[in-house]
Amino acid sequence: MESRAPTLVASVLPADFSELGQEVRQLEKAGVDRIQWDVMDGRFVPNLTFGPDVIGANRGHVSMGFEAHLMVDDPDPMLPRWVEAGCEIIIVHAEATRHLHRTLSVIADLGARAGVALNPSTPLEAVTNVLDLVDLLLVMTVNPGFGGQQYLGAMEDKIAAARAEIDRLGLEIELEVDGGIAGATIGSAARAGADVFCAGSALFNGPGTMADRVAALRAAATAGIESR
Ligand code: DX5
Repeated sequence: MESRAPTLVASVLPADFSELGQEVRQLEKAGVDRIQWDVMDGRFVPNLTFGPDVIGANRGHVSMGFEAHLMVDDPDPMLPRWVEAGCEIIIVHAEATRHLHRTLSVIADLGARAGVALNPSTPLEAVTNVLDLVDLLLVMTVNPGFGGQQYLGAMEDKIAAARAEIDRLGLEIELEVDGGIAGATIGSAARAGADVFCAGSALFNGPGTMADRVAALRAAATAGIESR
């Protein structure tokens, strides 16, 4: 498979929740490709964030894509709500739904792209039987629930295995990583096989402007992909 240009996705978890419209506009201006809304229900993860109405309220502020990362138990009943809120990609956790094949099919039937996320302890084999239904595979490089955590380098074997399987099958699946993605880690994740990179803390904090940080992350990811 030819190498892909990196996609840089901004997590709004570190954003100022009292100024979300301004924050997403700043992210778009700084050059990120997509926004990730970290949806948390206080059950699947020990944290609680926002629902579809908050996402929908921000849809009109920017034109770039929205992905909903559903860190929620039993995501099926609310799937239409995230699409109605303006999310083009819906990412469910393999660990959170009893019938993943059906859940992914429902997301596609709703006209959205279907994503599935794997927690650090969940093997790639959990999704190998449904890859034909997957548009985006998210390999978590932290345990979900909070931003600002340390990148789990041990996940690079899973990233590499996922890249090999996607390429072996010739599938058009975006391979995303999320958690602790920063200047010191993004190159290694890219070399392992990721082509989509979700960052929160590293975009909202650090030297220079947000545009500088976006450019630096994009350059490091590009170098990592090209060095595979
Ligand atoms: C974990 C969240 C975080 C967030 C990005 O549940 O999904 O990974 O998106 O966090 P940092 O600050 O590590 O980039």
